Amino acid sequence: MPPALKALVAQLAGWLAAFLLARGGLLPGGIWPMVAAQAAGAAGAALALRSARWWLPIHLAFMPLVVAARALELAPAWYLGAFVGLLLIYWTSFRTQVPLYLSNRATAEALARLLPQGPADVLDVGAGTGSLLRRLAAMRPDCRFEGVELAPGPWIIGKLLLPRRGRQVAWRRADLFSVPWAGYDLVYAFLSPVPMAAVWRKAGMEMRPGSLLVSNTFEIPGRSPDFVVEVGDRRGTRLLAWRIPASRAPN
Ligand SMILES: C[S@@+](CC[C@H](N)C(=O)[O-])C[C@H]1O[C@@H](n2cnc3c(N)ncnc32)[C@H](O)[C@@H]1O
Repeated sequence: MPPALKALVAQLAGWLAAFLLARGGLLPGGIWPMVAAQAAGAAGAALALRSARWWLPIHLAFMPLVVAARALELAPAWYLGAFVGLLLIYWTSFRTQVPLYLSNRATAEALARLLPQGPADVLDVGAGTGSLLRRLAAMRPDCRFEGVELAPGPWIIGKLLLPRRGRQVAWRRADLFSVPWAGYDLVYAFLSPVPMAAVWRKAGMEMRPGSLLVSNTFEIPGRSPDFVVEVGDRRGTRLLAWRIPASRAPN
């Protein structure tokens, strides 16, 4: 079951548990015992569904926060606005399981050191707001960069912030698996553990021999990197790099 569906089922199971307890006269009166029972029931259901551990505090806090927020008496438009804002930023991350977080300056500098000496073409798959590409473009004016981003919010920010003149940075709104990865000297991915097996398959099928696939933090299952760069920043970023072999045998 996809994680988002598990979360929905857990919340509904929490309400069912709270309802049954209340009907059985097992809860004191008032809204808060119901809410506490729902939260505990939802967390228990999430455990039973084997949701990732970090879902538990979310289930425990969700309904209490919803009920507490009602006391603020905010106009419904605020909730709608917040929902639309989050939707634009996170878009289909309930499906892709890749949220938005950005590579820092130290990572951009470490990545720049992996670029070839002369002109090179670089693709950032899942490029966020383009902040990494803007830094790289400033460091390496002789290279061409391309970013592919699916979520409209970060894509629009990138569109507004990327240099308008010149052709050093190309910026596309697309699914990273639907664009060709051929023709780049380096493909950079800062995604999540979930798509890494598919990333490796696509890299092996499309990237040219000798080019470099670099993943920030996330490993490819069953494939040791050819080398690892310790960025040395506070979050302990590691860049894992695979050189695409001459003979293609991705699996
Ligand atoms: C962790 S962020 C990395 C942003 C940027 N590459 C950086 O390092 O600063 C991952 C980005 O990938 C995007 N993303 C996730 N799945 C995608 C897909 N299938 N196609 C294109 N973009 C995707 C997300 O919207 C998010 O902005």
